[in-house]
Amino acid sequence: MAKKLKILIFPDPRLRKVAKKVTKFDKSLESLANDMLETMYIANGIGLAATQVDRHIRLIVMDLSEERDDPRIFINPTFKILKNHKLFEFEEGCLSIPGFNETITRPDKIELTWQDIKGNQHIDKPEGLLTVCIQHEIDHLDGKLMVDYISALKRDRIRSKLLKEYT
Ligand code: NI
Repeated sequence: MAKKLKILIFPDPRLRKVAKKVTKFDKSLESLANDMLETMYIANGIGLAATQVDRHIRLIVMDLSEERDDPRIFINPTFKILKNHKLFEFEEGCLSIPGFNETITRPDKIELTWQDIKGNQHIDKPEGLLTVCIQHEIDHLDGKLMVDYISALKRDRIRSKLLKEYT
């Protein structure tokens, strides 16, 4: 049975750790991925990085479907920005920054490489929401948060509000 994990809330310093590459594709990886999916669904999120549940490995789960029936797992994901990209604005949210949405600008065309739960390699040129979401989640694995893209003033305001609410 999958269990709900605790999600770290900004400005928890553990959100700043850089995650390590996954090298072992075993049962414990599978069970962590399932627990993360459960946690993401309960929190009503569309993506969750292992960093956010204080596990510092390069693992992301996601479900971009409206029906919430299309769970996806990305392991060791990396991306290249394609030459013909444009910048694309999207209002992003984050389960580690509850209650705040910010408009973030990111490139709209990438080539994405990842491994699945069995360790098989995949490569794809995603479109739409997946492009934005995967960049947001890979940022988490690198200790980066969407608040790093906004002004320090705004970021400080979010920090003090969340500190008051969650500690
Ligand atoms: Ni996030």
